[in-house]
Amino acid sequence: MDLFTAINERSSVRAYMDRPIEKEKIELLLRLASRAPSAINLQPWEVMVVAGEERKRLSRLLVKRMKELQVSCAPGAVSKLPEHFIKRQRDLFEILSPVIPEGMQFQDFINEGSCNFYGAPVAIIISIDQVFSSTRLTDIGIFVGYLVLAAHALGLGTCPIGLITAFQDEIKEELNIPEEKNIVIGVAVGYPLKDAPINKIKTPREPIEKFVRWRGM
Ligand SMILES: Cc1cc2nc3c(=O)[nH]c(=O)nc-3n(C[C@H](O)[C@H](O)[C@H](O)COP(=O)(O)O)c2cc1C
Repeated sequence: MDLFTAINERSSVRAYMDRPIEKEKIELLLRLASRAPSAINLQPWEVMVVAGEERKRLSRLLVKRMKELQVSCAPGAVSKLPEHFIKRQRDLFEILSPVIPEGMQFQDFINEGSCNFYGAPVAIIISIDQVFSSTRLTDIGIFVGYLVLAAHALGLGTCPIGLITAFQDEIKEELNIPEEKNIVIGVAVGYPLKDAPINKIKTPREPIEKFVRWRGM
């Protein structure tokens, strides 16, 4: 698959087949993701691959804590968001709401679904050592960008899961990740359920005129 096709086709996958992923495929995926550039080639990402029963056990813990602490997917803003961001969030809810499984409330589907990695057989948990400042999160973001595109090219679906970062201590204890690491993001990985309506959604993007300004050309 060429890169333009992968970029244009990839979407977040929120329904997965009950089919394990071959270890060699995950290894290839991570090798490809690790081709991402990073400042001074520091490669600050640290990865824990959690699969099968271990993934399910982690999810049970996350769902329990999510309910106890009433945590919800949120924009992570430090002050009130300008209206155009609120609109984008509302638009996303509006296109996803009609295609969530019957009988589920939208917020429950997203919050429980996120903690369950939407039923994916593999959760990739990415952390960074606390010696680094927040500027190094850029490198992790690029790594994740490579990862989701490479996964798509390999026939795998992904969904980045930011919600889990609310449960730093719980995840570190459960997965034996040292105290001095920060969990940056999780990524659900699995074979997509192709017919699931939720997987057919294509989220919109603003035209580039909305976010680009030009000087000198
Ligand atoms: C940093 C980050 C965190 C995210 N966290 C979640 C999450 O916790 N739960 C979820 O369902 N989707 C999550 N997503 C997926 C976004 O909702 C999705 O990327 C966005 O709506 C655009 O849709 P697309 O990925 O299908 O293009 C996250 C994406 C990113 C990049």
